Order: sequence, then C-alpha cells, then structure tokens
Amino acid sequence: MNEATRPRAFSGIQPSGALHLGNYLGAIRNWVRMQATTDGVYCIVDLHALSVPQPPGTIRQATIDLAADLLAIGIDPEESILFVQSQVPEHTELAWHLQCVAAFGELRRMTQFKDKSERADFVSAGLFTYPTLQAADIALYDTDVVPVGDDQRQHVEFTRDIVTRFNNRFGDVLVVPEHRIPTAGDRIMDLQAPESKMSKSTDSPQGIVYLTDPPADIEKKLKRAVTDNDAEVAFDPTGKPGVSNLLTILAVATDSDPDTVAKGYSQYGPLKTDAAEALIEMLRPFQERRAELDEPTTIELLHAGADKARERATVVMDRVRAAVNLLA
Ligand code: TYM
Repeated sequence: MNEATRPRAFSGIQPSGALHLGNYLGAIRNWVRMQATTDGVYCIVDLHALSVPQPPGTIRQATIDLAADLLAIGIDPEESILFVQSQVPEHTELAWHLQCVAAFGELRRMTQFKDKSERADFVSAGLFTYPTLQAADIALYDTDVVPVGDDQRQHVEFTRDIVTRFNNRFGDVLVVPEHRIPTAGDRIMDLQAPESKMSKSTDSPQGIVYLTDPPADIEKKLKRAVTDNDAEVAFDPTGKPGVSNLLTILAVATDSDPDTVAKGYSQYGPLKTDAAEALIEMLRPFQERRAELDEPTTIELLHAGADKARERATVVMDRVRAAVNLLA
C-alpha cells in the first residue's frame, strides 16, 4: 500500500511519568503493529500534560525520555511521524476553533475531567478544555483511526461529535475518526488495586510494571500481585479482578486470550511466575534498544518529525481558516 491509500492513524501520549504496561498493551503495541498497514502519526502531548501542574523543570526531559522509549519500542521514524505537540502550533489553533463548537455541558460530562477535577485542589481551565485539544490533535492529520486504550474511548467519541458538528456548520472540512481499542489489554489494572486501572498518577508503585523495570522487580511485583480469597483460576473481571488482570497480561503478552490461558492453571503461583516470565521476555528487546539510544539523536529525530507534521498540519489549518471565513 502506498502512503496515499493507507488509512491514517494518529495517537498521543502524555510525557508525565514513566511508561507502564497499560500504555504498552493498551495502545503503543498497536501503534507499532499498525505501522505496516497505516500511515501513522504519533505525538508526545506535552501541552496536555500542562493541564495539571508538573514538577517544575521536568517536562522537557520527560519529553525526550518518552521519545527514546517510543523509538526503542519500535516506532520507526522512517515509517511513521513521531513528534512533540508544542512544536506544531496548529494544534492549539485548531483547538480554539473546536472549543467554539463544543458545548460547556458536554465537556463537563467527560468522565476523565470529573475524576481528575474531583481529586485536585486546583482545576485549570486547560483541564476542562483538554478534550478539544485532543480532538484538534486528531483532526489536524485527517485521521481515520485512533489506536487507544479503553480510557480514551469517550474522548474519541467526543472528537467524532464535535468534528461532525464543525462540518455541519462550515462544510466538509475535517475527517471524522474512529477509535481502535484492543479486545484484550484495553484496560490493564493496578496489581495492588485491581479495581483501578494501572496509571502513572497512582501512588502505589508496587502496583505498576514500568517498561524499564529490571527482571527481578517484575518478578517481585507479579509475585505480590493482589489475587482473591478463593483459589480458583478463572477469567471474571468483575468477580475476580486481580486474577483476571494477571490472565489478561499473560494472554496479551503471549498473543492468546484470557479464557484460553485460564484453562492452563489451577493455582495462582504458577500463573504469576509465567506472567512475570512472559513480561520479562516481551520487554527484553525494548530494554536492550533503549540502553543504546542517545539524547542528541532522539532530539534530532523529534525535530525532523515536527517538520513533517507541520507540513501536513498547515494544509488542514488553511482549509479550516478558509471554511470559517477568516481573512486570508
Ligand atoms: P495517556 O498518556 O494517559 O495514555 C497513553 C495511552 O495509554 C493507554 N493507557 C492504557 N491502556 C490500557 N490499560 C491502562 N491501564 C492504560 N493506561 C493508559 C491510553 O488509553 C492511551 O491510549 N488523552 C490521552 C493522550 C492524547 C491522545 C490524543 C490520544 C492526547 N491527544 C489524541 C489519542 C489521540 C492520554 O492522556 O493518554
């Protein structure tokens, strides 16, 4: 397939904390796999990260580290565009236009906003309008498909709604995207609190497997993973969230499905050992490549990626300005 006929994929990730298994199994693994069949654009969304206070002086380094992680995981800058959101100012420009067609009420109903604002002492206006910037990210590249984990489902549906509304008002200007959410691994749970998703913003580091964790740490975290009181191994995410999470992790790491994996175990111990082993093997190539990447090369690749992204963003933004009837 040549570039012109491939569906266009776009996704983003915040540079706020180290990459964990949820990010990888829920989203990034699909980005890598989809490179063969789609025209991919992948974005480190540093401006989104600023919607909640970041520790002073950390975002630049976090951005570079995340880029190196993504390159080591297999985002190939020859195949896909990898870039940093703030280096393409059209994102915030299109976000404004989408804010002007988004309703206050629909933004207030976003579950991620509700969750985050309930927990925060200070709720920024940026946290409230966050989904419009995400919609702009997506629409700016004429995106057909958005590979994400389950927690981004509502944001992609919101994107579809406001892009459709924008088109109804101003003509057929923007492409209406679809999400691509994996059937297993779409929601990896915290190992210590399996009723909550594994998340960078949690305060239980023992519940999170970071992609850079050494094998001994992975073994320890899996061994201590919370299971249930009865000892039956079965896939039942509501009734047995801890065991089901381990089954999902092992299934996804070995390209199987959780129900099939469950049939192979009668005890928790061997399931935990095998899940740890599968993760260590899955992460080994990433960890080896990551150690080889240096910072100047990573920064150079990001600049080249931003140049390519800007080229495409300009075309779409010109279309938007004309459709809105702004003075050229
Ligand atoms: P972020 O940075 O929180 O997460 C990046 C990706 O990882 C997925 N993910 C998970 N998947 C399964 N289980 C988990 N426990 C888990 N935790 C995270 C997320 O679903 C996501 O796909 N708002 C977005 C970033 C964004 C974006 C975009 C995404 C900005 N613009 C445009 C797609 C398109 C976010 O905060 O992702």
